[in-house]
Amino acid sequence: MSRVAAVGKKGGQKTEEFTVDEVKRLVEIIEKIAGGYYSDDIMALTTEEQPEPVRTIAEAVGMMMVKIEAREYKLEMMVKELRALNQKIKENTIKTVSAMAHALAARDLYTEGHTARVGNLASRMARHLGLDEESVEHIRLGGILHDIGKIGFPDPLFQAHEVQNPPEIIKEIVKHPHVGVEILKDLDFLGPSLEFVHCHHERLDGKGYPRNLKAEEIPLGARVLAVADSYDAMTTDRPYQKGRSPETALAILRQNAGTRWDETCIVALESILKETGVAAANNL
Ligand SMILES: [Fe+2]
Ligand SMILES: [Fe+2]
Repeated sequence: MSRVAAVGKKGGQKTEEFTVDEVKRLVEIIEKIAGGYYSDDIMALTTEEQPEPVRTIAEAVGMMMVKIEAREYKLEMMVKELRALNQKIKENTIKTVSAMAHALAARDLYTEGHTARVGNLASRMARHLGLDEESVEHIRLGGILHDIGKIGFPDPLFQAHEVQNPPEIIKEIVKHPHVGVEILKDLDFLGPSLEFVHCHHERLDGKGYPRNLKAEEIPLGARVLAVADSYDAMTTDRPYQKGRSPETALAILRQNAGTRWDETCIVALESILKETGVAAANNL
């Protein structure tokens, strides 16, 4: 067995010898520690029987390992705290959004149920389309807030409704997506939801409002919202009309697929209604 002369602490005198195997073992353990495997193997090399400098290196590495472990534990705790905080922020976000939706509902009872249902239905459609959970959540928030711009409507407009109104009232109504954006634009957490609010009355053929966007220019989230919004509006009783049956509403959506609404979104809605049963889906 080859032995290596080691230099001790005192005046450069040879004090002890150690084998190449001992050094190899030390290196192996250090490599394991570097790889994140914190066993007590290193402690066995810190005993009196161990030659210098194996013992000194092992002690230093052992100390370093303990410090790294302590730091990792602290980091894990911090990550846990951050996760909890993040969760809290998310919950507060939802509460803020709901508070805004309720503020609108205080002015228009029809809108409250409508926005909650649209948020719910649109998020399920988005999930059905295979979108990731973050996008699904943004679409849900967009659904809850899509009509928030109506909060600025004068009272008579709440008695009137979207389909059968005189031109001067329609002129006011078509402003609500833009007013919504103005109200919400500083809420960073809304992210793409803001654009969904802005575009929920756009049509694929460019005849929608407020910007006459066409097809792909309209974000997918807004195309999903447009279908959910219209389906809910058609199937709900209004002051001037009785709600249509889900089958009739679906037929109208299908007739206008590709011109007014996105066909993929309509198919997603149909699948959900089939899966859940129309009555259950209407009471989301
Ligand atoms: Fe709207
Ligand atoms: Fe709406």
